Amino acid sequence: MLLPALDWHPQPRLEPLHLDWLARASVEVAVLRLDRIDPLISGNKWFKLVNHLRTAHEVGAKGIMSLGGAYSNHLHALAAAGKRFGFPTAGLLRGHPQDTPTVRDLKALGMDLHWLGYGGYRERHAADFWESWQIRYPHLHPVPEGGSGLPGAQGCMAWAASVREQLATLGWADYHGWWLACGTGTSLAGLVLAEAGQRPVYGVLAVPQDHGVAQRVESILGEAGLCSALYELFDGSRGGFARVDGELTDFIETTAAIELEPLYTGKALLLLKARVEAGGFAPGTRLIFVHTGGLQGRRGFE
Ligand SMILES: Cc1ncc(COP(=O)(O)O)c(C=O)c1O
Repeated sequence: MLLPALDWHPQPRLEPLHLDWLARASVEVAVLRLDRIDPLISGNKWFKLVNHLRTAHEVGAKGIMSLGGAYSNHLHALAAAGKRFGFPTAGLLRGHPQDTPTVRDLKALGMDLHWLGYGGYRERHAADFWESWQIRYPHLHPVPEGGSGLPGAQGCMAWAASVREQLATLGWADYHGWWLACGTGTSLAGLVLAEAGQRPVYGVLAVPQDHGVAQRVESILGEAGLCSALYELFDGSRGGFARVDGELTDFIETTAAIELEPLYTGKALLLLKARVEAGGFAPGTRLIFVHTGGLQGRRGFE
């Protein structure tokens, strides 16, 4: 039942991004449109899931169970993939029952939902957390929150090949680095692994610095045995995860060239603007901005 999913190999398109502040600094940006790979299975989520699905298939599981919040992009993509490819899914949710647009979609997509409360959700890192859920769902393979960890990161390495295959369509011979939003750092770690020190990967933290992203990235890179890692993390959280202010909202509204949401991609592009305007990149620099999706989550802010 997981095989049809493993046969899906979405190819994100690479598109030029034309913005006046980039043109003024003679910096070029191309966007890797992960948000456009599918209307529902959108963003970086599929790529972080695919190796977990492969493991699930190898161990004989029929479907997947995982964790997230009431606006979770990860659970949304997982539920949509289950519906599309015909495998069962269960979602363990943070907090108490809420009726959000995302939760309504999860139900409509056929995901079994369980609300763990806040204390119950904090237990998710405990060694025996999955035991009772495995008894309840013996045919489902557990996937960590957000599809994180080395298998998740390795699924994101494919983006580097996608970009290199499409550079010629932009008339670019090469590029100088990557720019993307970070929540757990899994996607960034995948790109750092793919580049193996050749080009830098710049990550904009959507969560405050004490959320352990740097440690998680280091742990993935260490597990993969990478020696030459080239990356930098910037705090773009604007005071907290999901903290939204007028400057960010205005920026998203006035950046008509690309659809953004306020939690990840909006914060990432706004910080890029600040770096570009501060002269952080030499004229002629060519960057790949990864559109990691999340547009479904915007409904929480409307
Ligand atoms: C839309 C979106 N962009 C970026 C991220 C960050 O990805 P990662 O957790 O791999 O750093 C997430 C999830 O955390 C997300 O939902």
